[in-house]
This record gives sequence, C-alpha cells and structure tokens, in this order.
Amino acid sequence: MTQLPGLLDTEAIRKDFPILDRQIHDGKKLVYLDNAATSQTPRQVLDVLNEYYEQHNANVHRGVHVLAEEATALYEGARDKVAEFINAPSRDEVIFTKNASESLNLVANMLGWADEPYRVDHETEIVITEMEHHSNIVPWQLLSQRTGAKLKWFGLTDDGRLDLSNIEEVITEKTKIVSFVLVSNILGTHNPVEAIVRRAQEVGALVLIDASQAAPHMPLDVQALQADFVAFTGHKMCGPTGIGVLWGRQELLEDLPPFLGGGEMIETVSMHSSTYAPAPHKFEAGTPPVSQAVGLGAAVDYLSAIGMDKIAAHEHAITEYAVKRLLEVPDLKIIGPSTAEDRGAAISFTLGDIHPHDVGQVLDEEGIAVRVGHHCARPVCLRYGIPATTRASFYLYSTPGEIDALVDGLEHVRNFFG
Ligand code: ALA
Repeated sequence: MTQLPGLLDTEAIRKDFPILDRQIHDGKKLVYLDNAATSQTPRQVLDVLNEYYEQHNANVHRGVHVLAEEATALYEGARDKVAEFINAPSRDEVIFTKNASESLNLVANMLGWADEPYRVDHETEIVITEMEHHSNIVPWQLLSQRTGAKLKWFGLTDDGRLDLSNIEEVITEKTKIVSFVLVSNILGTHNPVEAIVRRAQEVGALVLIDASQAAPHMPLDVQALQADFVAFTGHKMCGPTGIGVLWGRQELLEDLPPFLGGGEMIETVSMHSSTYAPAPHKFEAGTPPVSQAVGLGAAVDYLSAIGMDKIAAHEHAITEYAVKRLLEVPDLKIIGPSTAEDRGAAISFTLGDIHPHDVGQVLDEEGIAVRVGHHCARPVCLRYGIPATTRASFYLYSTPGEIDALVDGLEHVRNFFG
C-alpha cells in the first residue's frame, strides 16, 4: 500500500463513514471521488441527527415548553460551534441559510436594497472572476440587471489562475463589492486573497469570499481573511444538506437591510410597518433549518477533533500524489494548476477527445464516482474551449489506493474507446 507523509489514519477514519463500505455494480468497491459536489456523513453526525429527531425536535425561539427550549439551545449551540470554527469575533455574525448559494444571493440582495454608502446602483461596479461557480455569477447578473450596475471580472491565465495583472483597472473607485471564490470548485485553484482584499480596501469596496471549497478542507479564519462576508455550505464538510452559512462583519449586518421577511426576523409588526430583530435573526426569516444546523454543529465537532491543519496536510499529500499519477495517463490534460501548490483537492481533466460523460460512465461501471460536466462553472469551460471536464475530488478519507484505482479506471476508459 502506498504510504505518503502527512496522511491521516484513513483506516480508522473510514470506519466512521458506513457508506464508504458500499459495493456497487455487482460487488465493485465504491471509490467515492466526488467530494467537491458533496461529502459523506460520519456516524457521529448521523447519531446527533437521529438523537435530535428522537429526543428534541421542536420549533426554535417560539415555545416555552421543554422541547422548544432544547431545540433552541441546540440550534444556537450550533451557531457557537460554527463561530468558533471560523474564528468569528461574535456568534451574532453567523447567519444560517439553506446553502452557500443562498448566502451569496443574500449579500447581493442586501446591497441591492441598501442605502448609501453600500447601495449598488447604475453608477457603481460589481467585480467577480471568470472562475466563479454559477452561484457567484448569476446573483450579480440579476443585481446588475435590476440596478444598472456594471458587472466586471478578472480573467484567467492559461494555467488556471486568476489574471490580476489589471487589478487597478478592474477594481476601481466605482467598485462597491468584490466577490470571489477562495478555492475553485472546477480548477482547484487557491486564490491569492491578500492582493484582492488590499486593492478592494484601497477603494473602499466590500469583499465577499465564497469559501465553499475551502471551509471543509483547511483552517478558515474569517478575521485573517479580512473580508466583509464569507459564505460556505454544510454538506461539503460532513454535515447535512439544507444548511449554509453567511458570516458578515457585525456593523454591516446591523446597517444592511433584510432580504426575506417573515416570522422571527422582526422586533415589532403593525399593519403599516415593521422593525427588525438584531442580526443574525434579521436575516433568518421563517422556521430555520434546525436539525441541519445541529448536524452542521456535529460536523464541525468531528472535523475539529481530527484537526483542520491535519486534514489540509492529508489532502495536500493526496492531491500531490493524484497530480503525479494522473499526469502519467497518456492524453490526460489537467484543466487548472498542474502542481499541488496553491490548489485544493479537486482536479479537473480531459482525456484525449473522449467526452467526459463517457469517461464518467465507464468509471462508474468500475465503482468510481467522479463528477463530469461544466461543474456549474461554465465560463471556465468556455475560456478553455472545452465542453466539459471530468473532476476527481478528495477528502479526509481519500486514500492513495483510490487514486491508483482512478488511474486504472482511466486506462480502462482508454482501452474501451480504443
Ligand atoms: N458546487 C458543487 C460542485 O462543484 C455542487 O460539484
């Protein structure tokens, strides 16, 4: 068995994930390499979810009975855990949403309805990048169409990194918000936050970071990032689906208007007008995703007990090995950085002129789960003149043996298609 420095004890970790023992297609061992789409859920999180529904299920912030108080304590306890996980200065800066898309849309709508100095209008500019997930493109296109604000973006270099050579022309005095991904879901690129934040601060623009592919994989410190908002999702970090997070600086959350109206986001309501509860509740209208938040809290406990720095080291070793092994496959081209430096654990590639959907289909028959397509980042495929990619993405339970299985599977694909 291949041993690499920095690996976690995957034999022990994999025991926490019952699904990884599955056999598919007549006894083929499951090789799950689609972690950038969603991660698997450890028993520790499943147990907490089960116990929540068996013992504590109730609506939160509304009841005086025991179950309501327990559910509220668990929900708010999850907020404390998330705040600590990302080193937020205050628990009130952690807003629970449905997913990262909702978090990003929430910021776009806050700014669209805001008063000066935050207001986005026809005299202002919004900056994103060409490697964004659709969830960090479409909300800004919608806002731009609604307000007349100009949408601008950083392009990409041939090796899959951000081209910041024209940073002073892209981010200008007119820029109100710069929103960019920390680690790309399609290219794997880990972006240089500091240079972008410095320029945004020079012109007084707000910064929103999409950390969906970072929060699960490395220590995330919102204070060190120096951003104004950070968005991520629970289901990519061992938590359930249906729960996302928006972290925002407290004074901004106090000043900016809510987007969704409804129960529990108010202070008082009359037939003529309403006043709002303080953040985070101002941004959490309606019954929130209670069990999902509790599950995310358990996921944070699980990851923290292992250690995010150890998880990052494991994934770096796995990614380095994967890059090396994949580049041995004839006709395989990595779309994105072709070294393990400054990149995350998602690797996209093409294999000669075999369509990625065919690659994915044949790999699936071998028990290997990858994602194929444009990965909700179609502008990246357009930039590199390809219809789609095959993407393998790793996590704390991924092993060198699974990389070997992927490489063998790709040989099989090449033989299959002659
Ligand atoms: N954003 C997820 C992915 O990259 C769904 O696959």
